[in-house]
Amino acid sequence: MKKLIINGGRRLCGEVNLQGAKNSVLPILAAAAAADGISVIHNCPHLSDVDASIKILRHIGCRVDIENETVIVDSTDASGWEIPEALMREMRSSIIFLGALLSRFGRGTVAAPGGCEIGLRPIDYHLEAFAGMGVEINENGGIIECICPKGICGRRLSLNFPSVGATENIILASIKAKGETVITNAAREPEIKDLADFLNKCGADIRGAGGSIITICGVETIHSAEHSVIPDRIIASTYMAAAACTGGKITINGAERKHLAPIIPVFEESGCSVKSDENRIEIAAPEKLRRIRYVKTMPYPGFPTDSQSLITVMASIGKGTSVISESIFENRFRFVPELIRMGANIRVENGCLAIAEGVEKLHGANVAATDLRGGTALVVAGLCAEGETRIGKISCIYRGFYDIEKYFSSLGADIRSVNG
Ligand code: EPZ
Repeated sequence: MKKLIINGGRRLCGEVNLQGAKNSVLPILAAAAAADGISVIHNCPHLSDVDASIKILRHIGCRVDIENETVIVDSTDASGWEIPEALMREMRSSIIFLGALLSRFGRGTVAAPGGCEIGLRPIDYHLEAFAGMGVEINENGGIIECICPKGICGRRLSLNFPSVGATENIILASIKAKGETVITNAAREPEIKDLADFLNKCGADIRGAGGSIITICGVETIHSAEHSVIPDRIIASTYMAAAACTGGKITINGAERKHLAPIIPVFEESGCSVKSDENRIEIAAPEKLRRIRYVKTMPYPGFPTDSQSLITVMASIGKGTSVISESIFENRFRFVPELIRMGANIRVENGCLAIAEGVEKLHGANVAATDLRGGTALVVAGLCAEGETRIGKISCIYRGFYDIEKYFSSLGADIRSVNG
């Protein structure tokens, strides 16, 4: 099992280029299965979740080639509409393929993705929407079989919660539906608009993506297209937190300022100075971080839940008491006990509210990554802690942060991965 070894306390300084967004690549690769022909997707980071998506594409008969950070998907001979449990289990968000299979084949059979480290992750919104569009759903022993003998019918759907995955799955299922689909209370994350931009290049007719009402008029044909994925705003916030916690100064090339609008004010409240233009962020840390009075994670354009663990680390060494409320997932503070082993003084109430009393410094310790964003936060903690931190169970980090040790080493960190 690989571990990360970090000797902390070094200021991180320099420039870094931002990778493509994991949460955009995944739905766009699923969409490529619904698009007939050869799609070319640029700016795809080498992530284990991308590898899992490629395995699914190949399983259903797509030919997939990888050239550096470009993935070429030829769906001409795609014919499989079943995704086995083993593949579904590799990546929780594989449920997004169901909408693409329904579009392409009018049917799809998948295994229920199940929960994960951060919560139960139900898919009721997805299935309720499909049922409302005329899909017949048979769930048995964790296998979900969907057929639509009369084809998919567009209709007006309102989501109880602006679910990112449900919004994406409804879009994917409705691109060739009969008639018009209108999603009310749709998720507004930038990754939704990126998916719609790709699909519109493929001939779809999607309007309003990025807003809370999205209209999809079904079309006859969805052909292939070429597309470059948007940059990863969550990875951008990871570099920002690393600069903030180590007293450093980092320029992040490729970061889209508008995607970081919910995040930048929190870093400024903690005392960081943030300069930005269209596609670059420069952050410089203060001598000592200030507390973060109160942040609550919310759907976009609120503060993103995926960046919550990072500001919890900042709060652990900020001067004063910080309060962070997690409103999206029920188990997203599970990395905190590991942070406490490094000297943090944080208490978590009801699993959703963290109160952090800032300490002078964290110290190195042996810790284990609990999930992708919690594990990445432990890396940031190790970068600023005094002494050596050894992080185990790091495979979950590589799901979303490609070559983390290489990027942080290039910014002056003493970090390496070892086997054993
Ligand atoms: C997407 O997950 C992202 N994953 C998550 O990123 C991100 O944290 C999340 O959106 C919120 O922004 C990908 O895009 C691959 P949701 P998703 O549906 O679609 C509840 C990361 O670390 N819900 O918006 O699963 C759900 O339980 C990952 O990169 C239902 O109750 O998120 C949660 O409480 C983690 N029923 C809330 O909605 C449903 O049918 C938000 O979930 C669907 C969701």
